[in-house]
Amino acid sequence: MLAAVTTKYGPPNVLKLMELSCPKPKPNEVVIQVRASSVTAADTLMRSGTPYFGRLFLGILKPKKSVSGTGFAGKIEAIGSKVSAFKIGDSVFGETVFGFGSNAEFTCVPQDGLIMKMPEHLSFNAAATICDGPLTSMNFLKRLVDIKAGQRVLINGASGSLGTAAVQLAKYYGAHVTGVCSLSNDSLVRSLGADQVIDYAKVDFTKTNLVWDIIYDTVGKSSFSMCKSALTPNGIYLSPVLDGTLCSMFWTSMFGKKKAKFSATGVLPKAVLKQLLFEVRNLIKTGKLDIVIDRRYRLDRIVEAHQYVEGGHKKGNVVLEGYVPDQNY
Ligand SMILES: NC(=O)c1ccc[n+]([C@@H]2O[C@H](COP(=O)([O-])OP(=O)(O)OC[C@H]3O[C@@H](n4cnc5c(N)ncnc54)[C@H](OP(=O)(O)O)[C@@H]3O)[C@@H](O)[C@H]2O)c1
Repeated sequence: MLAAVTTKYGPPNVLKLMELSCPKPKPNEVVIQVRASSVTAADTLMRSGTPYFGRLFLGILKPKKSVSGTGFAGKIEAIGSKVSAFKIGDSVFGETVFGFGSNAEFTCVPQDGLIMKMPEHLSFNAAATICDGPLTSMNFLKRLVDIKAGQRVLINGASGSLGTAAVQLAKYYGAHVTGVCSLSNDSLVRSLGADQVIDYAKVDFTKTNLVWDIIYDTVGKSSFSMCKSALTPNGIYLSPVLDGTLCSMFWTSMFGKKKAKFSATGVLPKAVLKQLLFEVRNLIKTGKLDIVIDRRYRLDRIVEAHQYVEGGHKKGNVVLEGYVPDQNY
């Protein structure tokens, strides 16, 4: 099978397409013929090996897992002798988490891992990205702060993967939503449900007279201290980007009513992730949550896909399509 392999940390061109043997399932594993896999902002950080503390999990000198990619969608190709949750031919999606290996024609995951049957109407491309923005923003807005109807919520980076999901989730839970994005993404963010849109090139949202109960900076361009005056007295600042947030999180956990919060979604217990993913899948099934797809690349264009994602201007999600002929994406 063809797979994108990285044997060292570095720029996008460390990714090489190689012919590898197909994975064989252990008794509790399934092999998936990958129809689509995601290329995420987190993937580009893991490929470059930055920030350096991430290497404690990924491998100190080089990646422990050589085949890149985490999000996937495809069809079950083979099952291990003890698999009962899935059968050959099922359409599934999920994330390999620190197992990696989704940027390939086939990947192997445990049946009790982060894998679920796909909602019927959904494309493989959309399904492959669910565990990035949608799952992460569900974790932040629902699990971490239990967003409530009527709250004023600001989403910075509203046009990204986490942002496009966050705007829709916040709206679904009944919040008043302000999206912050560039002018070129204004109509996209409004179409996802934002009540108000701020163009970050013209207005610094931290310096208006407006205040929010939740500021979710999905792209980590601000900090708790910058946003403090834009929070209501019990307001919460959320960031999925660790830079600086850890210190504010520690400090505000002890002092003051305004809080800063961070969570690393991928390291949450499997049962917690699965519950969140069920909720996300139900919202997608019932048409409450849409997946925004920006560019699609063939697997052999993975270097270009990483270059594009690393540029920091994608709209929603980027996917790699598999090699299966005549498939309907
Ligand atoms: N902690 C966790 O569990 C977790 C999980 C997944 C991802 N993450 C992290 O979350 C971060 C966001 O990921 P993502 O995939 O959502 O990002 P992304 O899709 O790469 O974000 C790109 C978007 O951000 C917008 N943007 C760029 N500069 C901006 C600015 N100054 N103000 C407002 N918007 C701006 C861009 O719009 P324009 O083109 O208009 O500028 C673009 O649409 C990444 O750092 C990722 O590693 C964390």
